[in-house]
Amino acid sequence: MACASHVLVFLFISQLALVTYTTALLCDSCVGLCKSSCEKELNLSLYLHQIAAGPNHNQEQIVSPSFANGFGTTGVNDWPLLDAPQPNANIIARAKGLHIQASQEGGGWFSPFSMVFQEQDSRFNRSTLQVNGMIGPEATGEWAIVGGTGKLAMARGIIKYKFPQIVTSVENYRQLDIHAFYTPQAVFKIERINEAEVDA
Ligand SMILES: *[C@@H]1O[C@H](CO)[C@@H](O)[C@H](O)[C@H]1NC(C)=O
Ligand SMILES: *[C@@H]1O[C@H](CO)[C@@H](O)[C@H](O)[C@H]1NC(C)=O
Repeated sequence: MACASHVLVFLFISQLALVTYTTALLCDSCVGLCKSSCEKELNLSLYLHQIAAGPNHNQEQIVSPSFANGFGTTGVNDWPLLDAPQPNANIIARAKGLHIQASQEGGGWFSPFSMVFQEQDSRFNRSTLQVNGMIGPEATGEWAIVGGTGKLAMARGIIKYKFPQIVTSVENYRQLDIHAFYTPQAVFKIERINEAEVDA
């Protein structure tokens, strides 16, 4: 019995020594950078106001090739994204990018753009969503959110669009239902590995 308890004490002390030694050996690697991220969900409806021609137009044609059905026609756009489908609504963000007629039969535009939130918008202050997809030929469709920056870092999701209001043949409001997951820029903290983990 005495013998057994001595063995236990010896085992306990040697185990303790081993843990202390291991901890000392690993000391530098115990202190590491630990990424702490928290994914968030965005569910927001905005209204894209497109004015293709006239004094207040918000897009310009920059390439006019002579291919059939306007194939390859390219425009640059700075479309405002509003909180309501009305001219005096608040501008929340802007869709800055291109629209390229990419259907040989006509009527289908490929549009890659950065959705840049206004500095006045304290939620997303100059953060962006990177968006692309087809506009037309149908009146409704979906675009992909393939990335983001700032508070919307690492965003991915979809935007469903439809036309609640077509004002004229060159002016319309397109409703964008934005649904994305994003991870605000990672927070780093120093974390020490505890002895239980070292021992394991
Ligand atoms: C997003 O918001 C709309 C309108 O408030 C709501 O109808 C819809 O269910 C929401 N979707 C999600 C996925 O939360
Ligand atoms: C937006 O960010 C800038 C720079 O960080 C800051 O100075 C400004 O106060 C912010 N605006 C709002 C509305 O939060």
